[in-house]
Amino acid sequence: MKRILIIGATSSIAEHCARIWAARGDALHLVARNEQHVQVIASDLNVRGASEVTTYCTDLNDMDKHEEMLNIADDLLGSVDIVLIAHGTLSNQKSCELSVRETLAEIQTNALSTISLLTLIANRFEAKKSGAICVISSVAGDRGRASNYVYGSAKAMVTAFTSGLRQRLYKSNVSVVTIKPGFVDTPMTSDFKKGPLWAKPNVVARLTVKAIDKKKEEVYVPAFWSLIIIIIKSIPSTFFKRTSF
Ligand SMILES: NC(=O)c1ccc[n+]([C@@H]2O[C@H](COP(=O)([O-])OP(=O)(O)OC[C@H]3O[C@@H](n4cnc5c(N)ncnc54)[C@H](OP(=O)(O)O)[C@@H]3O)[C@@H](O)[C@H]2O)c1
Repeated sequence: MKRILIIGATSSIAEHCARIWAARGDALHLVARNEQHVQVIASDLNVRGASEVTTYCTDLNDMDKHEEMLNIADDLLGSVDIVLIAHGTLSNQKSCELSVRETLAEIQTNALSTISLLTLIANRFEAKKSGAICVISSVAGDRGRASNYVYGSAKAMVTAFTSGLRQRLYKSNVSVVTIKPGFVDTPMTSDFKKGPLWAKPNVVARLTVKAIDKKKEEVYVPAFWSLIIIIIKSIPSTFFKRTSF
């Protein structure tokens, strides 16, 4: 039985991960900002077999609360074996271009709040010399594109930060898993037209849980995105800047 802290637990991808862990009988502590939604998820996870489900509500941009949130998770779970960080917002690129405030708010939600959490969690896991940290980044962080570089640059920061953290924590028996999904059919992308490159959140969740189990490092989900990204990254800048995808 694992003791798992899920941060951003109302995320569709996180909820599907939680369903897998619940079916295994794991103990779950769910952190989210929408109290009603997280309670509905908690009840469902209890029915699905979780050995224990507790909740905590906070806006994750309130970084002063992170330490307290982690203390409560430790108290309720006894100790934490796995942390999944899943919260995020898909930035409106066009309105960010017109507003410094909105741009920085998106960087705050998609990068800085996660960096704050990772810093605190890393120190705790390093001290006890065990644990697995999993963060949902994005393929969008692999190359900035005109259509979503605010979101993409925030995810790039998360990817680079977790790369360094992985190297630091290796000696302490702590695994750091960076998940890079492509297009996923969740509430975040409800306005998008779906096509063959789109994955369902249950598929992304299954691959995420598998990556944590196997102590993987950076994982594209689904795997075909690794090929797409190799191609995108190999386009010379002089051509890339003329494209509009
Ligand atoms: N969907 C995709 O195509 C895709 C692709 C690549 C990466 N990702 C990443 O996957 C992760 C999960 O997203 P998803 O696809 O599962 O979308 P989702 O269902 O819309 O989940 C996003 C979650 O983040 C939460 N959140 C946002 N800001 C928050 C804050 N300040 N405090 C607390 N919670 C906050 C939202 O809470 P509320 O419900 O309260 O707003 C929501 O539960 C995100 O990091 C996203 O960037 C998604």
